[in-house]
Amino acid sequence: MKEKILEALYQKKGSYISGEELAEKFNVSRTAIWKQMNLLKKSGHKIETANKKGYRIVASDEKLVAVELIQRLETKVIGQKMICLDTIDSTNNYAKKIAQEAEDGTVVISDEQVGGRGRLGRNWSSPKGEGIWMSIILKPDIPPTEGSKMTQIAAAAVCQAIRATTGLDVLIKWPNDIILNGKKVCGILTEMSGELNQVEYIIVGIGVNVNIKAFPEEILEKATSLYLEKKQVLQRKELILSILQEFEKLFENYTAGEGLASTIEVCRKYSAMIGKEIRLIQGNREESVLALDITEDGILKIKRENGQEDLILSGEVSIRGKNGYI
Ligand code: BTN
Repeated sequence: MKEKILEALYQKKGSYISGEELAEKFNVSRTAIWKQMNLLKKSGHKIETANKKGYRIVASDEKLVAVELIQRLETKVIGQKMICLDTIDSTNNYAKKIAQEAEDGTVVISDEQVGGRGRLGRNWSSPKGEGIWMSIILKPDIPPTEGSKMTQIAAAAVCQAIRATTGLDVLIKWPNDIILNGKKVCGILTEMSGELNQVEYIIVGIGVNVNIKAFPEEILEKATSLYLEKKQVLQRKELILSILQEFEKLFENYTAGEGLASTIEVCRKYSAMIGKEIRLIQGNREESVLALDITEDGILKIKRENGQEDLILSGEVSIRGKNGYI
């Protein structure tokens, strides 16, 4: 019932709803409504009570609330089922646990991650309230070989969403980082379960450093946040909605048989690498190459120092800029 009351409060968009109306709607006593309101307040929702008027919700950016986000979300599938948590080890881990029963497009968001994971077994720092730590569960009818394309769709979606909501000049470092002023502001971790020919589910984990004020010494050179570059606290909710909407558009194009065309258009337009000399790192081997292009299938085309051109698959390498992170 708590969730239903919350939904009714958000439907009023900040206007009052009386205890009587709520009691009638849910067929319970006004005292029962009052009790539920207290529970909601205890779990961090800002609810105002006024004599003769009833209750109203005061939405704030601090508290991510699924019913509120869903009401504002303009998508058909992505995010229409959403779980907002206060704290979790990793939203990718949580998503994996519920994936089999979950509906396609379910989104898991947590205010904080205490065991956030990055690529190649790295940790992903996810402080409370300062970022977007979320995972999208997808159940597309595709073979596992297509899975890495979801990373490219997510990268293009995040890039467009940050540009649209903040005006910041973010770029994509193929295949899974979003870069701002030469430093990483977002990373994507795509994980998959399935059989040889068929994906069971794909989890697209997205971490955006939104309002992080300071980074530890060891990653200061490589990492940044939207706050540090814009010098302004930003609204996480707007950005979450925009990312999910952009993701759905690009994902729909892909499933409609268009392939990655619209995604790759974005990845090329906002590439941090094309035309630049980069370092390809594969285990202990490191090589300086020229990034030529990203193909229609999302594969990186490079030119080696001996003039030979090659295609690089996303899982194979780490990439760094010639003199720094990118
Ligand atoms: C990387 O660049 O190495 C990928 C970072 C991915 C971080 C996100 S935050 C939400 C989701 N849950 C995780 O544990 N990781 C991803």
